Amino acid sequence: MRSDTYWNWCLWMIVCVCCAGSFVGQATAETMIRQDAPDEEKIILTPRPGPAPAIHGPRLFGVRPGKPFIYRIPCTGTRPMVFHVEGLPEGLHVDSKTGIITGNAPDKAGDYVVRLQATNALAKADKEFTIRVGNRLALTPPMGWNSWYIHYNRVTEQHLRQAAEKMVSSGMADFGYQYVNIDDCWMKKKGNAPYRDEQGTVLTNAKFPDIRGMVDFIHARGLRAGTYISPGPWTCAGYVGSYRHEAIDARKFAEWGFDFLKYDWCSYGNVAPGTGVERLKKPYQQMGDILKTLDRDIVLNLCQYGMGEVWRWGGEVGGNCWRTTGDLGLERGSRLPGFYSIGLANAKHYQYAKPGQWNDPDYLLIGWVGAAHGMGTGKPTTLTGHEQYSYMSMWCLMAAPLIFSGDMAKLDDFTLNILGNGEVIAVDQDALGKQARIVLQTDQQFILAKPMEDGSIAVGLFNLGENPQAITVTWEQLQRTGKQRIRDLWRQKEIGMADHRFTTQVARHGVALVRLWPDE
Ligand code: GLA
Repeated sequence: MRSDTYWNWCLWMIVCVCCAGSFVGQATAETMIRQDAPDEEKIILTPRPGPAPAIHGPRLFGVRPGKPFIYRIPCTGTRPMVFHVEGLPEGLHVDSKTGIITGNAPDKAGDYVVRLQATNALAKADKEFTIRVGNRLALTPPMGWNSWYIHYNRVTEQHLRQAAEKMVSSGMADFGYQYVNIDDCWMKKKGNAPYRDEQGTVLTNAKFPDIRGMVDFIHARGLRAGTYISPGPWTCAGYVGSYRHEAIDARKFAEWGFDFLKYDWCSYGNVAPGTGVERLKKPYQQMGDILKTLDRDIVLNLCQYGMGEVWRWGGEVGGNCWRTTGDLGLERGSRLPGFYSIGLANAKHYQYAKPGQWNDPDYLLIGWVGAAHGMGTGKPTTLTGHEQYSYMSMWCLMAAPLIFSGDMAKLDDFTLNILGNGEVIAVDQDALGKQARIVLQTDQQFILAKPMEDGSIAVGLFNLGENPQAITVTWEQLQRTGKQRIRDLWRQKEIGMADHRFTTQVARHGVALVRLWPDE
């Protein structure tokens, strides 16, 4: 079921990515072949959430004045649970059984500081939460699921409904995952006209008979819904795009109730006027401006593979996050799995990330996931356990959107342990919104360090080698002094105190993810 347009586009992307030199390291002919992964046991490091309530997720949430609001309090612990929010502004309401807050944001801009509370038979949890009413969305990186790498052009409305149900029943929503996003292939395919009705409204294909009902279904679970289209005449997989229908499409997305839009360049290059960076900015500026006029908040995800150094201007045109590279699923060309080269390319742009404006290195391709080359059906990831810890650790340190794109119907315990570690996710969702800096990078190891809002620092020590090795980070590298308390975030365990440096043994392609607090 290959689409020619799609494959031409893939070829073009590969050429582009190579020309942009975004492969990491010097990939020689020998190193182009990935060594077979050893048969490693996959060890679950994340402790299971306890029965007492624990509230996860960010401490800050952005919404525009008066706009529809939906937030499901992410909370682990045994149900039944009673939720309450102290100081909730007028116009908002919390469902005491589900912890879903809905309503309309206050009309007046400002910070509304509330207390989220969850109580069960064992204990009560309490967390300060700021609803920031203003003009910025996605104050922490979006978290959720996207259909592309598992359902491709096979995606149906049912998959989206199923994903929403699983996001709640698997516990993912209790850690803050909230977006349920369709990718390409919900519109009419090239050759199957009509593509729009007489008013110009985009038509869906037969697999999406009731988009409004689907979005309502997602919202009823306290989750948010995302959609996808291209500014070009056709999407990357050859379905109809928004070209010359941008405003009518955006209005329709808002009317359907979508909360997120991935706007994918695809065929826009064939019709784009102008030259240079202005040509690259144009469709995103246009959509960014349209979204600001809508009666609904829609987070804008730029997808144009990093062209024209999008990290320099993605925020200025209204983007909340922008893909910095080509497709992770198509990434090849090193002895290492593709997430390393994509991740390390993304890591270079750390100074551009900030609240509401994130570098996006693409999805979390773990669990049961499709073969990107050929849009094939799913099978278990070939990444080792250690590689999966490294992948998630890099994404969290880089304050990347955490969008899983594997099969929600086949989530196993190991995958959930990667996706559902509250202390690891807290690194990603930290309200300071800084992306980790590369402290050290050789062909055998690298270290990323992310300053956190409370004065601590999260550090990832990554082993790129084929054997276990000791990795050291010094306080000088971290620009810190004095004794530090160190915690292992995957195991959620104190390691102890250290002065000057921290050294630890790291497995092949593994990571030690730690957080350091100054000793007070
Ligand atoms: C491009 C994007 C992918 C996906 C496909 C859909 O390749 O980069 O993430 O959206 O298009 O066709």
